[in-house]
Amino acid sequence: MKITVITLFPEMFRGVFEFGPVKIAREKGLVDINFLNLKDFAETPKDVDDYPYGGGAGMVIKPEPIKKSLVAAGEGVRVLTTPKGRPFTQEIANTLSKEDHLIIFCGRYKGIDERVRDMFDYEISIGDYVLSGGEIPAMVIVDSVVRLLPGATSDVTSVLTDSYQSGILSEPQYTRPRVFEGKEVPEVLLSGNHKAIERFRRKEALRTTLLKRPDLLFKVKLSNEDLRLIVEILKEGGKDR
Ligand code: ADE
Repeated sequence: MKITVITLFPEMFRGVFEFGPVKIAREKGLVDINFLNLKDFAETPKDVDDYPYGGGAGMVIKPEPIKKSLVAAGEGVRVLTTPKGRPFTQEIANTLSKEDHLIIFCGRYKGIDERVRDMFDYEISIGDYVLSGGEIPAMVIVDSVVRLLPGATSDVTSVLTDSYQSGILSEPQYTRPRVFEGKEVPEVLLSGNHKAIERFRRKEALRTTLLKRPDLLFKVKLSNEDLRLIVEILKEGGKDR
């Protein structure tokens, strides 16, 4: 997979792609990440942005450098990062991870000239808050997409069992020591009974989701067994932090 990031601040990305699965994926040649500096596509560095017609605060990125940079990036799926975009989800990350060439344009200032908006395939927001620019959202998108590439993580099943990958949050995890400050690891996890462990994990994943993100339960297909587990959880009560 190839990823091209178009940004006014390529230096911001220094370091972030040099750790973990993204580093591994780059080293294995699974992904090739390149940067284009938007300034290089303006007549002068001052020609990147301008005042909005009609007045108002902030600057708008001019259409010409946007178009030129997208053309220079070549064929690919074009993503614009903007707080006005559709909320980024694991499902979108999965879809993007199957593309050959991802072009991510980092928005800035008040946004981009409306007349080039139709040059993009996706407009993505990473959450209902405003950041200073689209660079951090681009890092978020690259990280979540690249870790899905086969070979980027040593453990494929770990990626497949991540929160959101199945539509719900993942269950709590425990490692050694067996007792920490008087708190014991749930007995069933030490039982070696795989069926019982699987049922426990599913129930705890459902409990976590019910307590923290009940909205997700309306979007996934739940089995009859899931519904039974949810009834058990509701009978047990409990609240979230
Ligand atoms: N640019 C500024 N804020 C943003 C957000 N929340 N998501 C994507 N791009 C942005």
